[in-house]
Amino acid sequence: MDLKLKNKVVLITGASRGMGKAIAQGFAAEDANVVICARNAERLQQAQAELSKNSDGEILARQADVESLSDIRSLVEFTLDRFGRIDVLICNSGGPPAKYFVDVTDEEWQRYFNLNLLSFIRLSGAVIPAMKKQKWGRILFLSSVSVKQPIDNLVISNVVRPGVVGLTKSLSNELGKYNVLVNNVCPGYVRTDRVLELAEVQAKQEGIPVDAVIEKYGQNNPLGRIADPREITDLFLFLASERASYITGVSLHIDGGFVKGVF
Ligand SMILES: NC(=O)c1ccc[n+]([C@@H]2O[C@H](COP(=O)([O-])OP(=O)(O)OC[C@H]3O[C@@H](n4cnc5c(N)ncnc54)[C@H](OP(=O)(O)O)[C@@H]3O)[C@@H](O)[C@H]2O)c1
Repeated sequence: MDLKLKNKVVLITGASRGMGKAIAQGFAAEDANVVICARNAERLQQAQAELSKNSDGEILARQADVESLSDIRSLVEFTLDRFGRIDVLICNSGGPPAKYFVDVTDEEWQRYFNLNLLSFIRLSGAVIPAMKKQKWGRILFLSSVSVKQPIDNLVISNVVRPGVVGLTKSLSNELGKYNVLVNNVCPGYVRTDRVLELAEVQAKQEGIPVDAVIEKYGQNNPLGRIADPREITDLFLFLASERASYITGVSLHIDGGFVKGVF
């Protein structure tokens, strides 16, 4: 299937590692022009170099912290100055720590509201004027399956991320007439650096090998395994393409069947 993503301008935040990087690699391989951001400059430059090797598109890296409104504005301005348009925005960042409600501080609620919801609101607000003018756009959020089924020990995600569902639906209603489609991808466990780090901590706590912890993560879904980042990437490529032209306002879980409810 030709997704016709060549020369599209794609802005992806939180893309120096993990799913963000895998998604950026997917767009780079389709010869899109890709702008990536993250906070750690060295890792970001490495990712930019890797992505460029495998693409005829232009791959640019810009250091930015999506917790900062001014960084978000300058990231979007940088992209518009260079390309004159933004076709696809993918909002992603790091996730909150694993905690139960009683252990979360007031500062943490503020911080992760900012990181996992407000940053998506601000990024959307910054790209919407350009997308409206173009009469074409895709805004894609990367959240979590926690919006469909709360995850034990991840209370911040369970509470903050459902706001992304409301944002998705509201924006899709407002922007449909401009041919700007808005969707939210909600993964279950995916084999990324973050998950490996979480598994290492748990392995130490339980005195078992890291692989055994990863296997346990996989056993909570009917496929019996966690996802490879590539499986998440392909969904983003499809949703960003013209082939997904009638899909908007959806929060789609991609979780190997983890969610037990019927919707
Ligand atoms: N992996 C999973 O199983 C899974 C499942 C469901 C949902 N999620 C969620 O999906 C998102 C991505 O997960 P992941 O596993 O790919 O994470 P990851 O491996 O930790 O990668 C996160 C990326 O975001 C960047 N980042 C973090 N904070 C940022 C900030 N404030 N501003 C700009 N960039 C920032 C990181 O670079 P810097 O640190 O250099 O900034 C890195 O490039 C997270 O929100 C996570 O909670 C993950």
